Amino acid sequence: MSKRLFVALELPDGCRECLVALGRPMHDVRWLDKDQLHLTLAFLGSVTTEEESSVRLQLAEIRVPPFFLAIQGVGVFGSETPSVVWAGVGKGHPHLFALHKRVHDALCAAHLDPELRPFHPHITLARVKNVPAQVLRPFLRDHENEEFCLVPMTSFALYSSQPGSSGYRYTVEQRYELSPRH
Ligand code: 2AM
Repeated sequence: MSKRLFVALELPDGCRECLVALGRPMHDVRWLDKDQLHLTLAFLGSVTTEEESSVRLQLAEIRVPPFFLAIQGVGVFGSETPSVVWAGVGKGHPHLFALHKRVHDALCAAHLDPELRPFHPHITLARVKNVPAQVLRPFLRDHENEEFCLVPMTSFALYSSQPGSSGYRYTVEQRYELSPRH
């Protein structure tokens, strides 16, 4: 049996409410539900039960201190043909990048092949298909540098993802508290 897993930061209720409220009805723009919002640190894809056990052990070894993360600004992936509308995290987050690196190392130690794409921290707000870039421009302009929330990050989580009729459903499988090296 295999599961589709990823590692991500959870966002508090209030922050997700604020982000989901940004959604405006636009043709071919599918805004995510409040309970689908998170910040992905690594996508594992389909893993076996043995691989999952190994990943869980490696993730439990991570030591990064809690930190504050500003959720700020919006953007798109695919400037000519947008595919994703996202909220960003502002600038200069050494603990976030350290955590991403530790998660990457943990996946390598568990003999999984994590993505080698550069880390562009973001929260996917909407998925887009066949929408000309100019349709999204007013939305991007209105929220370009807006500060949405300042989140105290005290844990990260291993999520599973299950396909459903209205998109993927994400479930927290295990939560790992952030803590400094002792
Ligand atoms: P995204 O938000 O940028 O789309 C669960 O699918 C999470 O894993 C999503 O948040 C998604 O990031 C991320 N992810 C990264 N690579 C993926 C891939 N190849 N397929 C599906 N999801 C992926």
